Amino acid sequence: MITKNERGELVIGGVSAEELAEEFGTPLYVYDEETMELKFHELWGSFSYVPLKILYAAKANSNIHILKIFRSLGAGLDAVSPHEVLLGRMASFPPESILFTGSSVSNEDMRIVAEAGAMINIDSFSQLRRFSSLFGRGKVSIRLNLGYGEGYHSYLVTGGRTKFGVRLEELKDVLEFSRENGIDVVGLHSHMGSGISDHVLFVKALNDLLAIAEHIDSVEFVDVGGGLGISYRKDDPSLDVKSFGKELSLTMERFMEKTGRRLELRVEPGRFLTAEAGILLVRVTDIKEASRGSEKEYFIGVDSGMGHLIRPALYGAYHEVVPAKIHDREEITAHVVGNYCESGDIIAKRVRIPAVKEGEILAIMNTGAYGYSMSSNYNLRPRPAEVLVRKGGRAELIRKRESFEDMIRTML
Ligand SMILES: Cc1ncc(COP(=O)(O)O)c(C=O)c1O
Repeated sequence: MITKNERGELVIGGVSAEELAEEFGTPLYVYDEETMELKFHELWGSFSYVPLKILYAAKANSNIHILKIFRSLGAGLDAVSPHEVLLGRMASFPPESILFTGSSVSNEDMRIVAEAGAMINIDSFSQLRRFSSLFGRGKVSIRLNLGYGEGYHSYLVTGGRTKFGVRLEELKDVLEFSRENGIDVVGLHSHMGSGISDHVLFVKALNDLLAIAEHIDSVEFVDVGGGLGISYRKDDPSLDVKSFGKELSLTMERFMEKTGRRLELRVEPGRFLTAEAGILLVRVTDIKEASRGSEKEYFIGVDSGMGHLIRPALYGAYHEVVPAKIHDREEITAHVVGNYCESGDIIAKRVRIPAVKEGEILAIMNTGAYGYSMSSNYNLRPRPAEVLVRKGGRAELIRKRESFEDMIRTML
């Protein structure tokens, strides 16, 4: 668990955040294995329906040690690039447990994925034609764009008027082409976006997929994608996981009663499983006053920023920032800002925070998903190290901090 102890110190799996920062340096991503397991079991336990497969969406956090945790829990893998497929294989995911859902997919992408033995989730009619000319007959899943979607930000909506999936208007032609060319459509898939807090939307998508599956005998599974929302702010709406599992299970049972077919149900969460299991530890480097009329505001500068956590700059996303150790200090109003040369490099805008001092450690909360995996070398700053706190409290370095040499190797 990630929590505060009785002395007000932030602890991850029983280990003090300050000690981790001292031992491994900052900036540092820290993950808690137990939280990931609890989230996985919470989701799994919400379903009464079988067969069920939870595919972990690697894009949320693709560190191989994190992949291995979900593999050992029995998850499959949702991969959106050939390299995620290859890393999934290295993490011991069996090929049949990996679904590749690409966008703007090249023939080379498909060759790598097919060679690795993973199933291809077709995103366009063009991709299907190219699949046919590359491989001849085969089995595919089809990603459908059901015409609607949702997410925390427009960039995170993938249904409706977006580049994703096969439109329903095209489906008849796509199915006819598959039939004529010996391609079995074994899966129907939809991913509507990221950050959906209403389970009813998933039930609607599942009903839409099942209505189509009813007319395609070859379909073996339906996949409602990921996008299960979490609360970044305490009072944000969050997905009612129990109702999510219960309603999806009931929908599958009803289909079974109606058709006599027991299809496999799939979900593909990323954020739900890892976001709350991770924090980014940073050190305060510089504090300055930001004049704003009579009321004082400050810039709290830290040794990290948008290259390590792009979500605030890219989507205006909120992440709570807390001192690793509570000191009895008055609260101030501050902008927590990074060390990148961009005005948009703001980690937290106008927040109330105890008056921390230079050299002290802050934790940026809920950064286990789409933190490291979206990081870059912008401003030629190395990416942070990653530490995993195992159950039992052993802190393992699962990725070294990048060095100057690491960053420049490919240009010399
Ligand atoms: C195809 C697909 N499946 C699953 C996910 C996981 O989404 P989330 O992390 O919001 O659960 C994504 C993320 O965008 C995705 O593109």
